[in-house]
Amino acid sequence: MLEKFKRFPLMFGPTPIEPLSRLSARLGSSVELYAKRDDCNSGLAFGGNKIRKLEYIVPDAIASHADTLVTIGGVQSNHTRQVAAVAAKLGLKCRLVQENWVPIDDTVYDRVGNILLSRVMGAEIEFVDQGFDIGIRDSWNRALQEVKAGGGNPYAIPAGASMHKYGGLGYVGFAEEVRGQEAQMGITFDFIIVCTVTGSTHAGMLVGFAKDGRARQVIGIDASATPNKTRNQVLEIAKNTADLVGLGQDITVDDVVLKEDYAYPAYGIPSSETNEAIRLCARTEGMITDPVYEGKSMQGLIDLIQQGFFPEGSRILYAHLGGVPAINGYSATFLNG
Ligand SMILES: Cc1ncc(COP(=O)(O)O)c(C=O)c1O
Repeated sequence: MLEKFKRFPLMFGPTPIEPLSRLSARLGSSVELYAKRDDCNSGLAFGGNKIRKLEYIVPDAIASHADTLVTIGGVQSNHTRQVAAVAAKLGLKCRLVQENWVPIDDTVYDRVGNILLSRVMGAEIEFVDQGFDIGIRDSWNRALQEVKAGGGNPYAIPAGASMHKYGGLGYVGFAEEVRGQEAQMGITFDFIIVCTVTGSTHAGMLVGFAKDGRARQVIGIDASATPNKTRNQVLEIAKNTADLVGLGQDITVDDVVLKEDYAYPAYGIPSSETNEAIRLCARTEGMITDPVYEGKSMQGLIDLIQQGFFPEGSRILYAHLGGVPAINGYSATFLNG
């Protein structure tokens, strides 16, 4: 589906799929759990889902002769850290707008984890006192104007690399990669679990898996706590991406399966159930998830299994999208393990 698009390799290659046997057993073995490790996809500052998306965006940035990548996220954004890494790798400057998306009172929150890494990689960082919103922000437009006013040539990457014309392509590629791995493994996944916020990860998967009739088997776990905005954004990106790749099928709102029950109490704030899911996964599999994104999708996965949402014997693929550095901003939560 992606042959006609340019791709700039940033990942190690296809990401591994591994069984989560001890977690499956702990949850009663009614289903078979697997994880696809996009958290280990690259040597670029610990990698993650944005690296996969950026493989299809970087060729456009290079063609534009940009000298500065400009993007936006929260203070502990994984996305801004990955853009900073890609800028370093390409020899470009990087301008990051970090908004106050998470109402958290941890004294080191703006010093550790992702933001620390972005500083080390030389990104220019601006803090803006604005709350969470996945849409296009004035602060980001202003940063683009400022780079231009200073004589630079900015390349605009929106939050999560989602509302970009090529933002959905990387995760179409994920679906194609999974199909190849299924053929090698001799199995087929019945469900794919994905954490959803700015939407292009879910949207890309939805388009990629629509090709073999599995769009609605992609189960998005909302971590935005603004699920209507997130659902609309997934739909818009999926429709655009389907057109771009020539899917030949309409994507409708019913194709966007988004579970809303796990984002509470707010974006970036984990519930005690999220923290328990993080501990269980870490203690059964040694697989680390974070309190903002993957901990919530892990919580959703565990709860859906416990509710009997998945038919007995289902094979479930948990997409691990990265985000581990952010757990450093939540050290108080895990002081006692
Ligand atoms: C670790 C992690 N998981 C999940 C997501 C959600 O992906 P998306 O924004 O494409 O919906 C993000 C980014 O927002 C992320 O950094």
